[in-house]
Amino acid sequence: MSDKRTTHFGFEQVAVEEKAQRVAGVFHSVAAKYDMMNDVMSGGIHRLWKRFTIELSGVRAGDKVLDIAGGTGDLSHKFARLVGPEGLVVLADINESMLRVGRDKLIDLGDVGNLQYAQADAQYLPFPDNTFDCITIAFGLRNVTDKDLALASMHRILKPGGRLLVLEFSKPTNGLLEKVYDTYSFRLLPLMGKLIANDSESYRYLAESIRMHPDQETLKDMMSQAGFAETRYYNMTGGIVALHKGVKP
Ligand SMILES: C[S@@+](CC[C@H](N)C(=O)[O-])C[C@H]1O[C@@H](n2cnc3c(N)ncnc32)[C@H](O)[C@@H]1O
Repeated sequence: MSDKRTTHFGFEQVAVEEKAQRVAGVFHSVAAKYDMMNDVMSGGIHRLWKRFTIELSGVRAGDKVLDIAGGTGDLSHKFARLVGPEGLVVLADINESMLRVGRDKLIDLGDVGNLQYAQADAQYLPFPDNTFDCITIAFGLRNVTDKDLALASMHRILKPGGRLLVLEFSKPTNGLLEKVYDTYSFRLLPLMGKLIANDSESYRYLAESIRMHPDQETLKDMMSQAGFAETRYYNMTGGIVALHKGVKP
């Protein structure tokens, strides 16, 4: 029986109010080594997933882009180059440790002038209606307690014709791949987390939270329910990751 006062944190059932604190704990813990661990765990493939996201975004010079749950700013960096001096990119994240690492990295890369930073919760985005041409949320939605609320909040602040891109872990399309991936996720990931970052728990949460996230079709339906049109998804790496796209009518 489902209970509205509880939700999942990985495979654990926790009080709704507790989930955000537990997620915050994970990202405070991983922030400093986040970029390095991303490259190690994905063998660098996360760069290709992100490149495809940029290609599909249709972002042009002068656009306004929100990169919510933007963390260490990989997408924001690329968007800042695309929108140019007349455009604006807002890198937003709920977690100040991730935001700090992201801001320092982007300043070092020379991204200044058209980039702003905001500490914000994807469920309650503090921007006026119809503000952005494009919103991305990469590997962020599965950490959000109320995903429908977050999708509605993103819909509200997109301009009509604006695009939402959700890049997230999803469900492998092949049974054999799923078995190999399960072994990798539940055995190797926490071990790598322990050896490299001395933090097996955060990487166990990563594996568990991926399994609890809605699959491709479910997320597509959720986006349609939130008011997005032309919703579709693109599987990558055999469905280990999917990019969902929707347009605000
Ligand atoms: C796995 S990281 C992804 C970072 C970056 N987008 C990337 O692709 O490398 C997930 C990010 O989601 C953020 N996050 C979690 N819950 C959030 C929420 N409710 N609102 C905004 N950001 C959130 C975390 O703080 C973290 O920085």
